[in-house]
Amino acid sequence: MLLETKVVSNGIKYSTLPTSYVRPVTERPKLLEVTDCEKVPVIDLGCEDESFIIQQIGDACRDYGFFQQVINHGVSEEIMEKMLKVADDFFTLPLEEKMKLYSEDPFKTVRLSTSSNVMKETVHNWRDYLRLHCYPLEKYASEWPSNPSTFKEIVGKYCIKIRFLGLRLQQAISESLGLEKDCIEKILGQSGQHMSINYYPPCPEPELTYGLPAHADPNSFTILLQDTQVSGLQVLKDGKWLAVKPLPNALVINIGDQLQAVSNGKYKSVWHRAVVNADKPRISVASFLCPSNDAVINAPKELFISGSPPIYRDYTYADYYKKYWGRNLDEEHCLELFKN
Ligand code: OGA
Ligand code: NI
Repeated sequence: MLLETKVVSNGIKYSTLPTSYVRPVTERPKLLEVTDCEKVPVIDLGCEDESFIIQQIGDACRDYGFFQQVINHGVSEEIMEKMLKVADDFFTLPLEEKMKLYSEDPFKTVRLSTSSNVMKETVHNWRDYLRLHCYPLEKYASEWPSNPSTFKEIVGKYCIKIRFLGLRLQQAISESLGLEKDCIEKILGQSGQHMSINYYPPCPEPELTYGLPAHADPNSFTILLQDTQVSGLQVLKDGKWLAVKPLPNALVINIGDQLQAVSNGKYKSVWHRAVVNADKPRISVASFLCPSNDAVINAPKELFISGSPPIYRDYTYADYYKKYWGRNLDEEHCLELFKN
């Protein structure tokens, strides 16, 4: 394969989908059957009644595993717009420039890659992504792209705001489980933070493939900034795929595998996917809050008072992450492998 055809943001206008992206008939997204998610939980974090916020977060985590909150989350409209713009500027750089960062090694701290796990998968996905480690910023930001010239500054500012929001949410999630607010933090340790800047070019045959197939995120929880004009995110609710329409100024929060484990299954790591479209490129920026690598993941004893036994065995996040990337994204839920 020629290097420049490895990524899909390569400037080529395809009239048909290359065969290595075509899903077998039974695995296709069936876009006509997808309905809009009408009742998406929207939470106003600026509300003065903190206990109401916590109750809403608890309901959203239990019923959906995700929520979309629009206002007063502390990340300004300006920095969200700049983040999306610099992401677009990066992916529209000349191919040779981008390819300097290309790698298929999931453990690199900065890399441009494509699809999801090229080494393990059989069918590819119509997505490119720039994956960055973001915390501590002083350690990683110097490795980030210096083209576009404003990249480090904008992404750095965005990451700081997102982390602040993330730590606040982690406390609220802890309280929503009836735990002390620092309980989850004590288990997961100093949070790591990674980012995936996703770029989904227009796709000639969107009904035959995915940007990202159904998956659950392996980390604690994810804060997603989406293109406000182009939709593509879908979540699985009661066996049906629902399209999450981007709302202005909104960030989407979804629970990942580690909060499912820490909550002893009370909160679900939500299955979600990204579909592509024929007309417009779509950009999303996923910020992954992760446990520290050596954190031993287990649910706190307070959650067993009602008599429910521990569902998962103790493991470290480093073990989990290795297992996750050693598989294809489409396989069974990785968390199943850590059951008692
Ligand atoms: C992800 C993800 C969804 C999207 O990066 O893990 O689920 O809409 N992205 O890009
Ligand atoms: Ni995801």
